[in-house]
This record gives sequence, C-alpha cells and structure tokens, in this order.
Amino acid sequence: MNLDSITIRQLRDSAALIPTGDHGPAEEFYRRLFELAPEVQPLFNREIGFQAKKFSEMLAWVIAHLEQPHELAAELRKLGARHGGYGVEINHYAPVGSALIWMFQQTLGDRFTPEMEEAWLEAYAFISFEMERGFREKTPEA
Ligand code: HEM
Repeated sequence: MNLDSITIRQLRDSAALIPTGDHGPAEEFYRRLFELAPEVQPLFNREIGFQAKKFSEMLAWVIAHLEQPHELAAELRKLGARHGGYGVEINHYAPVGSALIWMFQQTLGDRFTPEMEEAWLEAYAFISFEMERGFREKTPEA
C-alpha cells in the first residue's frame, strides 16, 4: 500500500501542529484507549509517560519514512511481531485507531480538518495492516 503525496502532506501538517517533544497528547491517547478498551490496560507494564514517549517517537519515525514504503513496512512488521509478545490481539487495533483520531481531535480542535482525519484513517489502516501481518507471520497459528 502506498500513501499519495496529498495524504502525506495532511499527515505531516497535522503532526507539525503538535510541538516536538510534547508527549501530553500521547498520554491523552492512552487515557482514551483505556476508556475504550479497559482490557488492554494490564498489558502495559511501563509508566504511561514513558510509554507515551515511545509511542510518539515511533509515530514520528513513521511520518519521516512515508516515502520509503518498503523500509516502513519492514519496521512496522517487526513492531507488530513484538506486539504479539506483549499480549496484543488483532481486535485491539481498532480501539487504538479510534483513540489516535480522538487524540488529534482533542489536541488540535478545529485545526484538525476532515482531510487530516481522512489521511490518519488511511495511515492507520496501513500501519495496522503491516503490524498485523508481522504478528501473523511470527505466530502462524493465530
Ligand atoms: C500505531 C500503532 C502502534 C505504535 C506506533 C506502537 C508503538 C509502540 C512502541 C514503540 C512500543 C515500545 C516497545 C517496542 O518498540 O516494541 C510499544 C509497546 C507496547 N504497545 Fe504499542 N504501538 C502501536 C499499537 C499498539 C496496539 C494496537 C496495542 C494494543 C493494545 C499496543 C500495545 C502495546 C503494549 C502492551 C506495549 C508493551 C508495553 C510494556 O512493555 O509494558 N500497541 N508500542
């Protein structure tokens, strides 16, 4: 799957509205995720501030590599395979996608345009597709 240049622009413009190093929105993301899917909370062993930093850094890495779809897909598959080891299941991906969109809506308000939302839905479909693929390749019985 390849994201087009207009979608990439929307992703970068929206991400640029969140100050670099501000992990507050990612912490909000986890709060929302645990509301939507309380069953995933026990899977997280680390302090949520630390986890939020890891998550934001990975998203920033994804945003920086949108023009290298092969490298991006390979890294996302590895990430997905590791997530199998954390006890993550395929049906956990949907609430994570919703919490991500919610995070942008909460953080950016009206600055988060419908086009940006569309772009994130598409990007998350790509991210979760590759992560799930990495997970399945590692655990063929799943
Ligand atoms: C956009 C998709 C996602 C990204 C970018 C992401 C990113 C990360 C990163 C960077 C880590 C640190 C460890 C590592 O690199 O392997 C991590 C850990 C983790 N993630 Fe994700 N993740 C995503 C989706 C999910 C989903 C769908 C779940 C489901 C609940 C999840 C649950 C976890 C858990 C449980 C850990 C381990 C926490 C611990 O060791 O205490 N992640 N994630």
